[in-house]
Amino acid sequence: TAVIALSLLENTNVQPLPLLYSQPKKNIANRAVEQLIAQFNFFKATEVKGPYVNPFSFSLLVSDVVSPLPDSYSPQYVEAAWYPWWEKQGFFKPEKSVSEQNPHGIFMMCIPPPNVTGSLHLGHALTNAIQDCLTRWHRMRGETTLWNPGCDHAGIATQVVVEKKLMRERGMSRHDLGRENFIQEVWKWKNEKGDRIYHQLKKLGSSLDWDRACFTMDPKLSYAVQEAFIRMHEEGVIYRSKRLVNWSCTLNSAISDIEVDKRELTGRTLLPVPGYKEKVEFGVLVSFAYKIEGSDEEVVVATTRIETMLGDTAVAVHPADSRYQHLKGKMVLHPFCDRKMPIVFDDFVDMSFGTGAVKITPAHDHNDYEVGVRHNLAFINILDENGLLINVPPPFLGMKRFEARKAVLQALKDRGQFKEIKDNPMVVPVCSRSKDIVEPLLKPQWYVNCTDMGKQAADAVREGRLKIIPDHHLKTWFNWMDNIRDWCISRQLWWGHRIPAYFVTVNDPSVKPGEDVLDTWFSSGIFPFSIFGWPNESEDLNVFYPGTLLETGHDILFFWVARMVMMGLKLTGKLPFKEVYLHAVVRDAHGRKMSKSLGNVIDPLDVITGISLEGLHAQLMDSNLDPLEVEKAKQGQKSDYPNGIPECGTDALRFALCAYTSQGRDINLDVNRILGYRHFCNKLWNAVKFAMKTLGDNFVPSEKFPPIVSDRWILSRLSAAVGLCDAGFKAYDFPAITTAIYNFWLYELCDVYLESVKPVFGKAEEDSASQRQAMVCRQTLYTCLEVGLRLLSPLMPFVTEELYQRLPRRRPQSDPPSISVTSYPDTKEFCWHSEEVDRDMEFVMTVVKTIRSLRADYNLTKTRADCKMTRYLHCIDSATVSLVQKYSLQIQTLSYSQAIIPLTANQPVPEGCAVAIASDRCTVNLMLKVRAGNLLNCAWSL
Ligand SMILES: *[C@@H]1O[C@H](CO)[C@@H](O)[C@H](O)[C@H]1NC(C)=O
Ligand SMILES: *[C@@H]1O[C@H](CO)[C@@H](O)[C@H](O)[C@H]1NC(C)=O
Repeated sequence: TAVIALSLLENTNVQPLPLLYSQPKKNIANRAVEQLIAQFNFFKATEVKGPYVNPFSFSLLVSDVVSPLPDSYSPQYVEAAWYPWWEKQGFFKPEKSVSEQNPHGIFMMCIPPPNVTGSLHLGHALTNAIQDCLTRWHRMRGETTLWNPGCDHAGIATQVVVEKKLMRERGMSRHDLGRENFIQEVWKWKNEKGDRIYHQLKKLGSSLDWDRACFTMDPKLSYAVQEAFIRMHEEGVIYRSKRLVNWSCTLNSAISDIEVDKRELTGRTLLPVPGYKEKVEFGVLVSFAYKIEGSDEEVVVATTRIETMLGDTAVAVHPADSRYQHLKGKMVLHPFCDRKMPIVFDDFVDMSFGTGAVKITPAHDHNDYEVGVRHNLAFINILDENGLLINVPPPFLGMKRFEARKAVLQALKDRGQFKEIKDNPMVVPVCSRSKDIVEPLLKPQWYVNCTDMGKQAADAVREGRLKIIPDHHLKTWFNWMDNIRDWCISRQLWWGHRIPAYFVTVNDPSVKPGEDVLDTWFSSGIFPFSIFGWPNESEDLNVFYPGTLLETGHDILFFWVARMVMMGLKLTGKLPFKEVYLHAVVRDAHGRKMSKSLGNVIDPLDVITGISLEGLHAQLMDSNLDPLEVEKAKQGQKSDYPNGIPECGTDALRFALCAYTSQGRDINLDVNRILGYRHFCNKLWNAVKFAMKTLGDNFVPSEKFPPIVSDRWILSRLSAAVGLCDAGFKAYDFPAITTAIYNFWLYELCDVYLESVKPVFGKAEEDSASQRQAMVCRQTLYTCLEVGLRLLSPLMPFVTEELYQRLPRRRPQSDPPSISVTSYPDTKEFCWHSEEVDRDMEFVMTVVKTIRSLRADYNLTKTRADCKMTRYLHCIDSATVSLVQKYSLQIQTLSYSQAIIPLTANQPVPEGCAVAIASDRCTVNLMLKVRAGNLLNCAWSL
């Protein structure tokens, strides 16, 4: 027994004092301290959620962790302390896994850097479960393994978070503070709050090498960003150009094409827009007339954005449209200013749509921009960066753009030039960051020419140098790469990598010198090599670049994967990884996307530790949903989790997520299934507990195994499971792995083998032959446990470690200290798979099941000793007879029979038997008589 007094000092470090332990139990006692510390740290890290009692001190008796194994499985107990121990021992460092006698190659994978502002939901937990599972597998295969953690500075998201905080706490905007001070605020926020993601990743058991963690704004990575920009600029791949960009008035910044969500409307719809109290009307087509100069004639045009008519500089018709031939060379008059606008003939116009005449706003529409370039039209910019009208006459000057939408309509009506308004199905571009309506705005920005890079990225896949798995994503890849557009990389933000190009243009007042930063994905695009100090030489860069694999959800193929591939090829001349594995996207049990307002965004930590319904509700109050949405989300939580979420533990969560990946592109996640795997952990726990009792305190696993292969069947099944796991890992087929392991442990080891060997151990003391048999069985049993745990370890690292630590070692001096650095069971080592043995046992199990169901028919429960009768197995040939003889002990035990007597085809079956057919080779006869002539009283139903 070890007594540990822990005193937890005020606000500060945990200090174990004093620590007394009995020498042989030193490791376990140390672990107990770590367990307490880990729990305490966890408490500190989640202080926002609960009351924080401070200061306090306590002492604890930890005899329970020193004793062999607690009675029942508790994820909290099992998962409390292993992680800090693994970390401290350096098991996750590639240096540790280098095995000199046994060089097995290198596995390197970098985490697709999560946002520093983010917190993981179950979808991310899937990413993590898969990545960690693969990493642990590679590590256990003896490869030099590095899974490199890191975090993205998330330009827009982080700036928005800190701006909101600043406004809430000090009533200040970032402009009040100034750029330098604001950046300092962001760093302060990052240092205080930016580690939530890392904390979650650790709780999920992720075997990342934390000493190599990188933040995209670290000096090392920023240096790489600058170098990348300069090189690409010098090559002419990065250029500056003034063209229409996607502008978010709320963010005051350009955003890239993939940050624009396309919202489909079927007709008139009122949408909320940031900065407007009332909703704004979309999805209607307004027709109005322009008067022809010098005549009474008019041309009717239509638009879904009527306010843009203030920036019109032409009307276009199709060159072949007979309705407008007479208007060649004519002008139309703008109703609100003295602007004469040409009628241009351009075959982009669709004659059959509306009147066949189109208004042209070159500075605010992508198609019109092209028309403007072709016909040399004026480009009049009518919006400033905040979405206020400029370069327009009063009363519109200075209006907000959607106020102007109403004002222009009214003014047209007043002048009699309004024609009609009707529903118009359309797509509205919405900024995925700010939810503002995106405005095309003419701005000088920095672009990456993606023409050549995209082609190379596509070729790499076409030529098989880069593998994308599963291959149904290939089509999307080629489609995107073959039609790639140049990438706008400048953002008008303060938080991010400042573009290393500073200049002032006197002629263009819209250019603010040196303000822009780079798109966040510019730095994540070079992450696979910037983390190793590129462009400088380093050992890490030589050893770990190019990496092996990039693993991510298929929904971010273009955000990360595509850019990493393009920039890797461009800047290093090498593909950053050899394979890309894309997993499914997690949805809720009803198949809906995870969304805060549906109340189905679940924190993986809540599944791990469990949470009440009230606890889930309380989290909504911390979010920035409006009250109506909170109510809706609460209802969603109430119907999905009426009793909250039960404690499932990390192991069960990881196993469930991996098992789920069979569902194709989307996964509909049901928390009850995760709970099912907690029960599996329980089974595992009990099996090992039972087995350890059977092995006894003095059991010594033989160094060479097997001494005699007598338990052929379970070893055959174990070898089959090893083979299935090996194939599953190689094919990224996680459900194949989880199924193989689950079936082996539950159906083969627990249900059949453990049951069938009970009598062997029961009579172990009787004679030397059965002692020998029991000894062999113990070795088999030990092998099944030890190998079974190692098979499972990449998926369930915690419970397997806990149980593995309790097992004796084959080579106590040289075996690794942790299951996480043992070797993964190998098909070469475990080659006892025999189809013949499997087939025999299948036959045996059919017989057993037949006897069991026959017994059930006659209500002979297994607890009734008087019903343990003789079974006669009537066999078709001598081969079947010897098969039955060979397995008679197993059949007898598993079917709770007194004796198994095989009969040949011509031997008669004694009278008084119930009969059932087990197979075409064997008939089961169940003796219902106790003594001759006396029907068993339990056979009353005869
Ligand atoms: C790379 O080398 C340059 C020049 O010696 C140095 O200024 C820079 O700090 C180095 N970068 C890193 C990440 O070590
Ligand atoms: C982009 O690169 C391609 C191929 O090198 C070139 O043809 C094209 O003109 C470039 N585009 C721009 C805008 O510079």
